[in-house]
Amino acid sequence: MNPPGLDDLLTCLRFPSVSTDSRHDADVRACAEWLRSKLSALGMTTELHETAGHPVLVAKNEHRADRRTVLLYGHYDVQPVEPLNEWRTQPFEPEIRDGRIYARGATDNKGQLMAHVQGLTELLAKGGGDLPVNLTILFEGEEEIGSPNLKPFLESHARELACDVVAISDTGMVAPGVGTFTYGLRGIACMEVKVHGPSIDLHSGIFGGSVANPATAIARLVESLHDADGRVVIPDFLDAVRPLQDWEKKAWAELGDSAAETLELTGAPALFGEAGFDDRERRWARPTAEVNGIGGGYQGEGSKTVIPREAFVKLSFRLVPDQQPEAIFEAVQRHLKAAVGPGVRLEVKLGHFGMPYLTDPMSDLGQAAQRALRKTFGEKVALIREGGSIPIVQAFKDVLSADTLLLGLALPDCQAHAPNENFPIANFASGVSLHGHLMEELGA
Ligand code: BES
Ligand code: ZN
Repeated sequence: MNPPGLDDLLTCLRFPSVSTDSRHDADVRACAEWLRSKLSALGMTTELHETAGHPVLVAKNEHRADRRTVLLYGHYDVQPVEPLNEWRTQPFEPEIRDGRIYARGATDNKGQLMAHVQGLTELLAKGGGDLPVNLTILFEGEEEIGSPNLKPFLESHARELACDVVAISDTGMVAPGVGTFTYGLRGIACMEVKVHGPSIDLHSGIFGGSVANPATAIARLVESLHDADGRVVIPDFLDAVRPLQDWEKKAWAELGDSAAETLELTGAPALFGEAGFDDRERRWARPTAEVNGIGGGYQGEGSKTVIPREAFVKLSFRLVPDQQPEAIFEAVQRHLKAAVGPGVRLEVKLGHFGMPYLTDPMSDLGQAAQRALRKTFGEKVALIREGGSIPIVQAFKDVLSADTLLLGLALPDCQAHAPNENFPIANFASGVSLHGHLMEELGA
């Protein structure tokens, strides 16, 4: 027997709401409209707002002056499914195997989002249509592309979205059954770097040796980002990094060493990262420079003797407090200009970015959230940061002056963004109950 609300989750997962791919624009919208009708049927006032990109769904119960206002955020867009041949079953035909739901978006973020929708459904039933709080739901369809239209939306709808606190389930749990409060996220800054050489692809025998090869130049640029120990060596890049506090080191040490688990989850032959930091520190508290894609020259079968006329690399930088994306963009561009060799022309296109986030887990609201986690999962609550980014979270602070409670439900092996993404039914059920406890604690 499926638990209540699970069929709705399966329906939600059948929308191929891939936000990066314009061929799926209509699917993204259809998913938003389906969610809207779901929330309307619960008696909420709903509005689907148009933006320059995918629509934003806002839903509210009746707001009264004498109680707290909670903004619940989630995203209904998903990552692309490629490589498709590595999926055991079709990504948009959810299948249940061994207590887990397999589909793109199962964990990131539809499973977590729909757990809250079901929790809300049950809380409304319990309260005869009333809730312990004023609830504003904000579901967007552009999180996976950096939320380009959401901050302007917050700014133009700041009164309508005014709230005391934001709650999000779009992060992880340290282990099954362990309530996890995430008090920090990394930020991100993306860019695409191109190196242009000759005006056409050249015969590498006729011209090789007398012009610079753009692919070699790109390789040199990539090489210049780190030292041999994996430390980012771009001048000024690390200047603003806030050191880890003693209480954080202690809280993370209590979780035990994560190296073995990371080795297993990643399947890498060995772990490698910045010298002087352990696995968790590297992933949660240190910035990175990553190559997400690289190309140039002949990619087909066999060899072809050519000097490509251009080559590219797609870079993203994960940022930690107090790094600022604008300052990082400047520092990286200065570095690339200085590092690019002679005989080529450099072109840098800046992409999307989002701020890192850090909050105090022991604030009044943080403690209320921890009580809700205890009621749901038991005494032990893990206090962690995460390496991933939710670009809008710091904007909630800047525009709405609200702190965000990140109460994740994903497990380390849920394969977010990867083939065979999945979400345990048990985590869905916990999320339903977490929603109830959270609203009650925040309403108290
Ligand atoms: N749910 C993730 C963020 C996340 C993942 C937080 C793991 C904590 C742990 C979110 O949907 C996501 O993937 N964000 C992107 C944002 C980017 C595309 C701007 C990310 O972190 O890469
Ligand atoms: Zn994601």
